[in-house]
Amino acid sequence: MHPAVWLISLQDLDDDARAIQLEAVAGLELLPGQENFVGDPLRMALAGLAEVSRRPYVIESNGEAVGMLTLQAGAARLAGWPDDHSAWLLRGFLIDRRHQGKGYGPLGAAAAVAAAEKLSRRHRTAETGVVLSVHETNPAGLSAYRRAGFEDRGQYLGGSAGPQQTMFRAFAAPGRT
Ligand SMILES: CC(C)(COP(=O)(O)OP(=O)(O)OC[C@H]1O[C@@H](n2cnc3c(N)ncnc32)[C@H](O)[C@@H]1OP(=O)(O)O)[C@@H](O)C(=O)NCCC(=O)NCCS
Repeated sequence: MHPAVWLISLQDLDDDARAIQLEAVAGLELLPGQENFVGDPLRMALAGLAEVSRRPYVIESNGEAVGMLTLQAGAARLAGWPDDHSAWLLRGFLIDRRHQGKGYGPLGAAAAVAAAEKLSRRHRTAETGVVLSVHETNPAGLSAYRRAGFEDRGQYLGGSAGPQQTMFRAFAAPGRT
């Protein structure tokens, strides 16, 4: 199955449309144990809306919210990147438990890179790609990101949650779009 996904920017919606999307976010569920890898969906969406550097998105397919993610500017070091500004940070990435294992993860992660690239071009900022960190004990995450074109960029031992893998996907080279 190859479902198409769309990213809906919560920031760019009017109040009514945002309320509908937030209700959908509140309905997203994880499998037991996955809360070790990612935060509570509604909290992450609200935190994202409250902070200017963050852009929270709903991942939608066939008119249904299947997951969410957040892009953050100026925070790449949180994923073990050497500086904050040369990459977008992808964080808070999840697919609802009822939709996992269908390929939405790689599609959503690839869509995040495309959205980040558009933002960098529009605002003429310095990012050259997207970075994230994923726990080494999260094979579904590692696999989904690799399939989305992210490369391993070494182990990251920062944070309190145990060893993580830093992964990066560069934007298309300038002029190649
Ligand atoms: C990581 C995550 C986003 C992947 O999304 P996804 O849509 O399930 O991705 P895929 O469909 O490509 O599945 C990824 C892998 O997990 C396996 N998988 C995922 N859900 C599964 C399920 N319910 N049953 C069996 N296998 C499953 C897939 O078979 C695949 O393994 P493979 O690459 O060896 O074939 C999703 O599992 C998730 O939301 N996890 C909880 C939050 C999390 O870990 N986020 C990442 C934080 S960095």
